Amino acid sequence: MKMLLAFLTVLIAVLLVLVFILCIYRVRSRSVFSQECLRPPGPLIMDQKVRDKVLKTGFQRSRVPASLDAIVIGSGIGGLTAAAVLAKAGKRVLVLEQHDQAGGCCHTFENQGFEFDIGIHYLGQLHENSLLRVALDQITEGQLQFVQLEQHFDTVVIGEGASRMEYHIRSGKEEMGECLRQQFPDDTLAVNELIRLMKHASRHTPLLASLKLLPLWLVRFLIRSGLLGRISSIYGLASTSHSHLMSTLTSNKDLLTLSAYLFYGVPPKDSSFLINALLLHHYKRGAYYPRGGASEFAFHIIPVIQRGGGAVLVRAAVQRVLIDSKGAAYGVAVKKGQEELEVLAPVIISDAGIFNTYEKFLPRQIQSNPDIQSQLGMVRHGMGSFLVFVGLDGTKEDLGINSTNYWMFKHNDLDQLIECYSSLGKEEVLGNIPMMFITFPSAKDPTASLRHPGKSCMTLLTMAKYEWFEEWKDSKTSRRGSDYEDMKMKMAEELLEWALQIFPQLREKVVFMDAATPLTNMHYLGAPRGEMYGAEHDLARFSTEVVASIRSQTPVKGLYLTGQDVFCNGMAGALHGGLLCASAVLNHIVYIDLLLLKKKLKNQKAKIKP
Ligand SMILES: Cc1cc2nc3c(=O)[nH]c(=O)nc-3n(C[C@H](O)[C@H](O)[C@H](O)COP(=O)(O)OP(=O)(O)OC[C@H]3O[C@@H](n4cnc5c(N)ncnc54)[C@H](O)[C@@H]3O)c2cc1C
Ligand SMILES: *[C@@H]1O[C@H](CO)[C@@H](O)[C@H](O)[C@H]1NC(C)=O
Repeated sequence: MKMLLAFLTVLIAVLLVLVFILCIYRVRSRSVFSQECLRPPGPLIMDQKVRDKVLKTGFQRSRVPASLDAIVIGSGIGGLTAAAVLAKAGKRVLVLEQHDQAGGCCHTFENQGFEFDIGIHYLGQLHENSLLRVALDQITEGQLQFVQLEQHFDTVVIGEGASRMEYHIRSGKEEMGECLRQQFPDDTLAVNELIRLMKHASRHTPLLASLKLLPLWLVRFLIRSGLLGRISSIYGLASTSHSHLMSTLTSNKDLLTLSAYLFYGVPPKDSSFLINALLLHHYKRGAYYPRGGASEFAFHIIPVIQRGGGAVLVRAAVQRVLIDSKGAAYGVAVKKGQEELEVLAPVIISDAGIFNTYEKFLPRQIQSNPDIQSQLGMVRHGMGSFLVFVGLDGTKEDLGINSTNYWMFKHNDLDQLIECYSSLGKEEVLGNIPMMFITFPSAKDPTASLRHPGKSCMTLLTMAKYEWFEEWKDSKTSRRGSDYEDMKMKMAEELLEWALQIFPQLREKVVFMDAATPLTNMHYLGAPRGEMYGAEHDLARFSTEVVASIRSQTPVKGLYLTGQDVFCNGMAGALHGGLLCASAVLNHIVYIDLLLLKKKLKNQKAKIKP
């Protein structure tokens, strides 16, 4: 009897997998990707006029191409990826960006000769022929280049004063684990298990993400019948609390801190083990930085969209998505001075996040659709960020700085630390910032010294609550008043002083300093509550039900989501959002094309290097 049951279960599972494949992969005659589009990378373009022409072309009716196939709201990596893949499939796409330059979190800004990036500090999984690398090469036709950072890419500092401990994190297939084992000689088994789980998580994540491509009824059946859990343990890991799982491996508090040091505002106990494991695993094969800076992403993706007949226009704040009498999206209304211009297309893609898309862009009666309300009930606004941009006088050699990032924690109880910080009231923040990230972007990019000779920059980052700044939300940027400036600069000073404890040699070299609060994210990134990473990455978001429900297709016909809210944050996460989105719009799983191309490139390489 038991045997028969087991047999039947396996049979049903096999049948379902076949249904999956039939359902999701409708054979297309042509792959959207090709090796032929790759060109050897051109020289770095430093002429600001040439760059601005690509990144800063303003919205005007006359610049909108005729008979559009799709409109993308937002030019972050998620929006640009979806647009470029559609362009490769022969579609004419218009990307509309509210800021005065394209790129979203990948944009950069200059002040007093210093160039700062916002949301790209370092990236992983970019080794030759990795899926991410192959995808980026396709959407930039081989033009975006990366610099691999030194193996010692992160230092984690726990505690203060004499009891301060410093740990090193190294990349490398074997070195990452080896380096941790050396620093935790009494916990080598725990380290091994952590590394094993990280690898497992990374390998099986496609099974989790594919829940967003399968028909929802099928996923729900798999969940209710318990079959899903039999397919892979990834579904369980995704909804396991990080602290809970780690407590079964070790009681060493420093190691627990290290297992979740890439902070994003959720205490480990309320975060998914899977997400933390993926974040660290991301850098296992090396940490990288875009050669030429973060603006290179948009600079090289936009021409691909243009070659497909499309355009990327800035200063184009979308106010509303237009919905016809049958409830389908058919265009957008864009703010132009005091007026609103309508631009029409049968497909509307939003990179502006789930909250803007549903709560700002849709008319009220559509918002009240139960499926939309149900999705909104599954997500919360993520925490905001606080950034300090520091300009330093001198080259990296003069200053003795390098590419290693520092992650600082006041103590080693991360659950308590993050929970306590995020429950502080506005008056309690100063003097109580318990964590910080320190990085030297200019030290990572060999072209920085060509682009900005004799100058270096340091960026400091911590989390911050929207509520601390909310009272100034309606004021205009750079005219928010002295109370706001005061709070902002005091927080900045506090972080700077903390950083100078590690880098005392920089004290006399600071020649520029400014800071960005959640209100800055609201203004420049269109983040509705100054979120750093879009919707909160809490445990609930990674339950199978939520993973399956929040997908690129929305309950509104013709309206799609892309970017970090589709699956998860980061350049890589947002890019996957774009690939999932393009798959949904084209009704064609572009991942299969990507995997086939990756295999082909790998085989070719094996032939060249026997
Ligand atoms: C401080 C910081 C540091 C980070 N560091 C890293 C890192 O080191 N490595 C890494 O991989 N990731 C990092 N990230 C995360 C990563 O940058 C993001 O997850 C990713 O770039 C998000 O891409 P996206 O396309 O989803 O959204 P975004 O880049 O936010 O793009 C959304 C776009 O939509 C536009 N928009 C919004 N509303 C409208 C509207 N009404 N009309 C028109 N346009 C609109 C916005 O202006 C914006 O350009 C960091 C993020 C931050 C904030
Ligand atoms: C950068 O400097 C720090 C402090 O001196 C050192 O620990 C680290 O190993 C250096 N990183 C690299 C990549 O050389």
